[in-house]
Amino acid sequence: MTKHLFTPIKLGRLSLDHRVAMAPLTRSRAGQPGNVPTDMNVEYYRQRASAALIVSEATQISQQGQGYAWTPGIHTEEQIEGWRAVSNAVHEEGGRIFLQLWHVGRVSHPVFQPGGGLPVAPTAMPVPGKTFILDENGNGAWGDVPVPQELTVEGIREIVADYRRAARNAMAAGMDGIEIHAGNGYLLDQFINSSSNHRRDSYGGSIENRARLLLEVVAAVSEEVGSQNVAVRLTPMGRFMGMGDEAPEATFGYIVRKLNDYALAYLHLVEPAMVGVVKDENFDPRWDAIMKLLRDAYTGVLMLAGGYDRDTAEQAIASGRADIVAFGRPFIANPDLPARLRDGHPLNPADTSSFFGGDATGYIDYPALS
Ligand SMILES: Cc1cc2nc3c(=O)[nH]c(=O)nc-3n(C[C@H](O)[C@H](O)[C@H](O)COP(=O)(O)O)c2cc1C
Repeated sequence: MTKHLFTPIKLGRLSLDHRVAMAPLTRSRAGQPGNVPTDMNVEYYRQRASAALIVSEATQISQQGQGYAWTPGIHTEEQIEGWRAVSNAVHEEGGRIFLQLWHVGRVSHPVFQPGGGLPVAPTAMPVPGKTFILDENGNGAWGDVPVPQELTVEGIREIVADYRRAARNAMAAGMDGIEIHAGNGYLLDQFINSSSNHRRDSYGGSIENRARLLLEVVAAVSEEVGSQNVAVRLTPMGRFMGMGDEAPEATFGYIVRKLNDYALAYLHLVEPAMVGVVKDENFDPRWDAIMKLLRDAYTGVLMLAGGYDRDTAEQAIASGRADIVAFGRPFIANPDLPARLRDGHPLNPADTSSFFGGDATGYIDYPALS
């Protein structure tokens, strides 16, 4: 039987009624001080609870893991309480939510680091660019990303422990599971890609070594909360934040085959042709082949994201390219996106100027169909 967007699916312990998921979306509106989810954040997620599954915005696992102003964390009691209010609201509406766990690695600035220190990375190489920081008065400002410090093996062990604790905290906050953010040029991706990892120890060099940190994190959080409650997001061939790998088929093929050893809730891949948030049909022609290779290699539920609309999502499900599709920007502007896709209603356009930071405008005021 051909599957479509509104065919139910089982994902880990969850039975979902359909396959329209909400992609993780940083909105930079956590409460200050403390990066704690607020009532406004609760309302935002409540409005979007008709998603088959919500993947939360990226959420730092530790103070060291923060790289942008006003992003939420999951490492303090107040943050756990804040996220509990979010998960309760989503569950009251019959929805499901995974918390996306984030460590930015080198994409950070001393203003966020414990003791004002340097951000950490596999190798002391800066990413060209700026990050959105806080100035002395607590206002948002663009700041240069400094040369990071190379992580020691002890530092790496502490980060694995931070992931483990964050996963435990997420489940204590009532989440249905966690998604490990291993893409978009952040810490785990910095280890994976040969462009940003020049280490000579057991965490650098060979593919096995570059994948080691991700796989240690997967093992640790799976042991902590059960692998059926764990997912991984990867961005194979991603170029964001100075990423690039010398052999992406081999690197990501190895990782995906290794992930088969854990009965994860799902694997989440972003279409490689997404360059930032623009789809480039002329992207490196290997991108389509790599997605086929990874689909064939992975034995579990595969979620895809990146530039999908109703028709392309239906095609992806019908052809088996994806088992479930995550929508990002369409969910920002359409809190009731699944109903609109099901019934063929037009979509509200998203206002990009209110994506990051600000108040309720462009956040909880997008209209649903009446
Ligand atoms: C405002 C904004 C914030 C984002 N934040 C995150 C994030 O926190 N974690 C993540 O993995 N991807 C993030 N992404 C990428 C999206 O999850 C998604 O892959 C991308 O928007 C492409 O999907 P779309 O075409 O449906 O929007 C973000 C994208 C946007 C536009």
